[in-house]
Amino acid sequence: DKDGYPHFMLKEINEQSRVIRDSLVGRLRNESVDLSEELKWSNEEIRKWNRIHIVACGTSYYAALIAERLFENVTEWDIRVDVASEYRYRELNSGPETLAIFVSQSGETADTLAAERKAKISGACCLAVTNVPNSTLAREVDHVLLLKAGPEVGVAATKTFTGQLCVLYLLALYLGRVSGTLPDSKQKRLVQELRVLPFKVDTILEDHLLIRGLAEKYANARNFLFLGRGNSFPVALEGALKLKEISYIHAEAYAAGEMKHGPIALLDHDVPVVVLIPRDHLYDKVLSNIQEARARSAPIIAVATSGDQHIIPNAEDILWIPPSEPELNPFLEVIPLQLFAYYVARYKGCDIDQPRNLAKSVTVE
Ligand code: AGP
Repeated sequence: DKDGYPHFMLKEINEQSRVIRDSLVGRLRNESVDLSEELKWSNEEIRKWNRIHIVACGTSYYAALIAERLFENVTEWDIRVDVASEYRYRELNSGPETLAIFVSQSGETADTLAAERKAKISGACCLAVTNVPNSTLAREVDHVLLLKAGPEVGVAATKTFTGQLCVLYLLALYLGRVSGTLPDSKQKRLVQELRVLPFKVDTILEDHLLIRGLAEKYANARNFLFLGRGNSFPVALEGALKLKEISYIHAEAYAAGEMKHGPIALLDHDVPVVVLIPRDHLYDKVLSNIQEARARSAPIIAVATSGDQHIIPNAEDILWIPPSEPELNPFLEVIPLQLFAYYVARYKGCDIDQPRNLAKSVTVE
């Protein structure tokens, strides 16, 4: 049931700190990640791999794109992330030296199942990251890591996105540790941040009325642009998808550095630009992108790290997130974007839990 919430989606957005806590249970030993209870991989098997494929659709693909940057950072393997509907038709190098990871909260997405079957035939070691233990995907792969997020009823994925991010991050840290490419100090820093993440998520959720006011201010816009760099770029993709799929407003996401290669022509005062600008090594670059957009009269809605004074004169509106380790900013950035999309759709009277033309699981091609 909705536990008193007006929509399943809002209930599930508010379950995300619990989802993070639950996904960590039994997977941390002191300050390191230990998945050996769930993944019976020998060291020889792990040493045999020299590439990782991560394959998914929709929101699950965006979670994979975020995790890709951590995998690149903590392992020395070649990483390829692809949408399942493309991966299944590509001529890729894949075989016993490949770990193929399939991310699907339902475990029933037709394209993802087809991609997994192709990888399996190639001899790859297939791993599912899913929320449904007895799903078709879970039954077909060699190994499974469960989200433990509980059933997600809203068609728009929210808590399962966060659960997928958690599990993929834990997997990257585990593989980095067991393959000897992740320094203990870095693992300890990230594990400590994962433990406090739920408290930071709750801090953002407490701002929901401010986010609601902002959503209603911009709810009549007909086009939105979402921008981000680095691991914030896939978060921009996810924020645009959330808005599109429940409010039916056109929203596009771009890597912020791509604006000058065409998309900036779209900007004027009727096109709000949502920009993810956390305090990280790309901050100054994103700030210059904001100034380019403002020069074309586009209203800026910034998602920024609390305490950042520079952003204040550069944005019409600001959604604050607590400071965090840069690698984990996406867990925090996505929360205001989920709430923004939810309150825009609610203001417009849309069918939030069952948007038009969409199904919770796309079991057909
Ligand atoms: C996300 O809000 C959508 N419901 C959709 O993009 C979804 O993420 C996609 O269909 C993949 O679903 P899966 O995770 O069950 O495979």
